[in-house]
Amino acid sequence: MKTIIILAHPNIESSVVNKKWIDALAKSNPEVTVHNLYQTYPDWKINVDAEQQLLAQHDRIIFEYPVYWFNMPPLLKKWFDEVLTYGWAYGPKYSLEGKEFGVAISTGGVEDAYKAGGADSYPITTFISQIEASAKYLHANYHSYHVFHGALSSDATERLEENAKAFVKFVTAV
Ligand SMILES: Cc1cc2nc3c(=O)[nH]c(=O)nc-3n(C[C@H](O)[C@H](O)[C@H](O)COP(=O)(O)O)c2cc1C
Repeated sequence: MKTIIILAHPNIESSVVNKKWIDALAKSNPEVTVHNLYQTYPDWKINVDAEQQLLAQHDRIIFEYPVYWFNMPPLLKKWFDEVLTYGWAYGPKYSLEGKEFGVAISTGGVEDAYKAGGADSYPITTFISQIEASAKYLHANYHSYHVFHGALSSDATERLEENAKAFVKFVTAV
């Protein structure tokens, strides 16, 4: 299974969580393609043909990003709008049919806050449901998600070690 990570972090150099994940992956499995959108397109001019070719070459597509205002960072939303075009991704032709979609996200909010009535109002799955719905719409298979909560909490560093191992497993699981 050929896997690509579509990484959308506006500043990966100053990231703690997403950088740790990518570093852990690089140490254990160089086969996975890591495609950093903000580094590839500093001018936000997405090369749609190149992106579609990249997707076509992989079987598993994982969207990795920090949650910003309960959503994906804006360049990733632009990527969805521009790359998943009618006639290529859906319509008469479904080029991503049968591919596997997954999501890996980090949040500042702690795990307990992501529930009905909690500080973040809804379960975390609410905020990635748009990707799950998109997968279904594109005739792709939604796989599942990996999450790290409480990125700013005092115990984040020690929890991140184990979590990064789980991330690698999530990305490389057969
Ligand atoms: C602009 C902005 C918006 C954010 N919005 C949220 C949010 O809606 N929910 C949340 O739990 N954390 C939010 N955070 C915290 C980030 O999700 C958190 O810092 C990030 O996941 C940590 O990952 P990193 O170390 O890779 O940057 C926000 C951070 C920024 C900078």
